Amino acid sequence: MEYRDPIQGKSLFQYAAEKMGVDPLQIEQLLADYMDMQVLYRSAIREVSSRLEVLDDEFQFRHKRNPIHTIQTRLKTPQSMMEKLGRRGLTPSADIMRKELTDIAGIRVICSYVNDIYHLADLLCAQEGVELVRTRDYIKQPKANGYRSLHIVIKVPVYFSTGNHMVPVEIQIRTIAMDFWASLEHELHYKSAAHATEDIVNELLECAESIAELDCRMQAIYQRLEQMESK
Ligand code: GTP
Ligand code: MG
Repeated sequence: MEYRDPIQGKSLFQYAAEKMGVDPLQIEQLLADYMDMQVLYRSAIREVSSRLEVLDDEFQFRHKRNPIHTIQTRLKTPQSMMEKLGRRGLTPSADIMRKELTDIAGIRVICSYVNDIYHLADLLCAQEGVELVRTRDYIKQPKANGYRSLHIVIKVPVYFSTGNHMVPVEIQIRTIAMDFWASLEHELHYKSAAHATEDIVNELLECAESIAELDCRMQAIYQRLEQMESK
């Protein structure tokens, strides 16, 4: 695998190595390892997505409604992995990546109601083969900026011809409204810092609180409808 700059004749690895101040061979090795890891983490994403789809299907059959609105998946890019390790002062290597990064495989589940979030997380974690590694409940304890979401890291088995591996997957579960808020707040970080003025930050916090109240009211209306239905 060799990409060369047609003008300066430098390989991509040389560029990257110069930028990071490391040996080009080390970069080449890291990329090769990353390609290898991709298969494993992509399979883990498929495994969890499939388990979630089954739960969604079963719920639809029993309750005539889908708790999952959408499922988004992503594999962390090599650049983002390097940045994260760099921020933590760790030397990049495939071993360190596997050990330190629990969000190489990422899944975002968007639900209609807050109760669906906990219900799905509980059902998934109770499944055979699933091992709960970490829970961060930013719904019960929102971040200072107003961010709300349930984050769990689970390990799932991936069976290869060479044996089985328990692979970590980070799952963010949130409502449609929480997701709407998070997308806008995320954009703020990609725009110039000058735009993140105090009044914008405060207004976003107010919006997050209104959204939490709205989610609560929507949940209550839905429960009332369900009770009327069951009478
Ligand atoms: P990372 O280094 O970003 O992975 O953070 P972490 O390891 O401390 O994990 P945490 O569970 O706090 O956040 C992981 C992910 O959640 C982020 O990569 C974002 O996708 C999302 N997230 C966390 N906090 C915020 C936030 O304040 N705003 C938005 N929009 N997203 C957030
Ligand atoms: Mg992350």
